[in-house]
Amino acid sequence: MQYKDVYAAWKADPEAFWMRAAEEIDWDTEPSKALFADNAPLYEWFSDGFVNTCWNAVDRHVEAGHGARTAIIHDSPVTGTIHRITYAELKARVASLAGALREKGVEKGDRVIIYMPMVPEALEAMLACARLGAIHSVVFGGFAAHELAVRIDDAKPKAIIAASCGIEPGRVVHYKPLLDAAIEQAQHKPDFCVIFQREEEVAKLTEGRDFDWHAFQYGVAPADCVPVEGNHPAYILYTSGTTGQPKGVVRATGGHLVALNWSMKHIYDVEAGDTFWAASDVGWVVGHSYICYAPLIAGCTTIVFEGKPVGTPDAGTFWRVIQDHKVKSFFTAPTAFRAIKRDDPEGRLVKDYDLSSLKALFLAGERADPDTIKWAEAKLGVPVIDHWWQTETGWAIAANPLGIEKLPVKIGSPSVAMPGYDVQVLDEGGHPVKPGTLGAIAVKLPLPPGTLPTLWNAEARFRKSYLEHFPGYYETGDAGYIDEDGYLYIMARTDDVINVAGHRLSTGAMEEVLASHEDVAECAVIGVADDLKGQLPLGFLCLNKGCNRPHEEIVKECVKLVRDQIGPVAAFKLACVVDRLPKTRSGKILRGTMVKIADGAPFKTPATIDDPAILDEIAVALKELGYPKA
Ligand code: COA
Ligand code: AMP
Repeated sequence: MQYKDVYAAWKADPEAFWMRAAEEIDWDTEPSKALFADNAPLYEWFSDGFVNTCWNAVDRHVEAGHGARTAIIHDSPVTGTIHRITYAELKARVASLAGALREKGVEKGDRVIIYMPMVPEALEAMLACARLGAIHSVVFGGFAAHELAVRIDDAKPKAIIAASCGIEPGRVVHYKPLLDAAIEQAQHKPDFCVIFQREEEVAKLTEGRDFDWHAFQYGVAPADCVPVEGNHPAYILYTSGTTGQPKGVVRATGGHLVALNWSMKHIYDVEAGDTFWAASDVGWVVGHSYICYAPLIAGCTTIVFEGKPVGTPDAGTFWRVIQDHKVKSFFTAPTAFRAIKRDDPEGRLVKDYDLSSLKALFLAGERADPDTIKWAEAKLGVPVIDHWWQTETGWAIAANPLGIEKLPVKIGSPSVAMPGYDVQVLDEGGHPVKPGTLGAIAVKLPLPPGTLPTLWNAEARFRKSYLEHFPGYYETGDAGYIDEDGYLYIMARTDDVINVAGHRLSTGAMEEVLASHEDVAECAVIGVADDLKGQLPLGFLCLNKGCNRPHEEIVKECVKLVRDQIGPVAAFKLACVVDRLPKTRSGKILRGTMVKIADGAPFKTPATIDDPAILDEIAVALKELGYPKA
């Protein structure tokens, strides 16, 4: 089979294509059809089927006689431990945890927030929710208490499952005080919390509210899998939008199972028994789809890696993990490879390991720069596959589908649209443009199974953010073009989202925090190019009239404010004070022009600018911060 035949078969009969893919999933009641379009332009998949995610990810493999196969390997260079869990053990652990949650009142449809580092218990907590039909929402550990509080108020969880601590190189992340502060700040209070105590730091539990992970499971009957409707939400994952209020991306159960299972075989070319490794974090969509669910649904061994590409202990860590666990398919963000390349430019450490198990490297999360791709290809000697997707879609929109056919790689392109996605580049009026012409990238509705049906408690925002600008299409928020051969090129975001070390962040959210500083009258945050992290946020602060405090002091306070309010992951360390911001005559801040000045890129002074002299002032301020880089 060739890619073009598979894509054409989908296009000719999407219903038959997805019903065939659905046969690989164990349904309690089979769906009568794939697409439910009664409520268009809101679509659902497999709505009248009944199914359980945990059954498909865990129990069915044990039933099929594969209980002794390793399901999860926790490889943790930061604690110096490696721990393997078989499918049979995983089933017992998840059923026990689910039983204890049920005993405390967690039922189908209840929300449970999970706030944990890279430990297998994070996956077990996700699977235990899935077992009960409870809707989990995992919050990344690098977010501050305030961000957690915002998510608590939006998801209104019955329970929160957290670990006592996480471990970053050189410091312990104290999860429990962050959790306590978040619950204190939030209007909504969970009924109870479950705390997984780690050896590195044992947290003090709040009497009556907090339960110890092990103790609360003691003597409780394990829970069976609860079948849920195909359109039942499996999880909510918050992601950055244009404002400080994150978007709660909803993932529906049936489509999630079908699409992820399809992707493992056809995109990543792995099968049951293979080891698949996504070096990301459970707090991001990559962690949901490709650390937890997809590898387990497909019966693979997945790796939960608690470390960094460099410094834990060195730039050879990734190669050691690939060698020791015989990783067949490896997935990470380009920034991780840039970090390795910086520490070990010659790739000397690669030679110390046997990487013969590795068949392909997949990159996503940000633009894969040609230097990084070429370096990885040369050092690893395997295909390096850039692929493009988003939290919203849950799986690749565009990729080179190795399990179907390895298409020629075009460096700089994440290759071609996957079945299910009719990707088009549109002009401002919503008309498809000619190949090679830059425009907004949109996907013709309906989106395929596994993608978001709506935003949690925010259908109007869903319609406004994604469906209204180009009727009949899903607006991706990315701009780019398609070439004559159908290869996509993703060039930039069309909104205020920036991508820092593969982490999606909102400049609007940072501006809201900076504006709350008592001396700041007005501000703007832009993303500037960075060799390691792809982009870094940089803030411009205009101070209140009469404020004569030293600028360095205010900048320092603003940096701390963003770290305290959003979290260390924002990586907000660059800011400067300016008198004025460049604006159009109608008052719109010219962020794009400031980005060009900071990156040393050619730019035209916008015709609508209010006062062109301000651009010179911005250039002077940037120069003091060292931008543009030589
Ligand atoms: N919990 C708490 N803090 C965290 C965290 C977590 N899970 N993850 C990151 N942080 C902190 C870091 O410790 C750092 O804090 P610091 O300012 O005190 O140093 C800060 O957030 C910024 O982190 P990051 O941007 O990741 O920078 P870094 O210098 O620590 O590491 C890389 C740089 C490139 C090594 C790292 O970003 C990386 O491995 N990236 C891989 C990309 C990835 O997994 N992306 C996910 C999407 S696919
Ligand atoms: P996230 O929702 O965190 O996965 O971020 C999604 C965004 O990251 C996309 O909309 C793109 O802007 C960017 N992105 C992800 N993968 C790629 C890629 N392969 N090439 C270019 N940009 C990417």
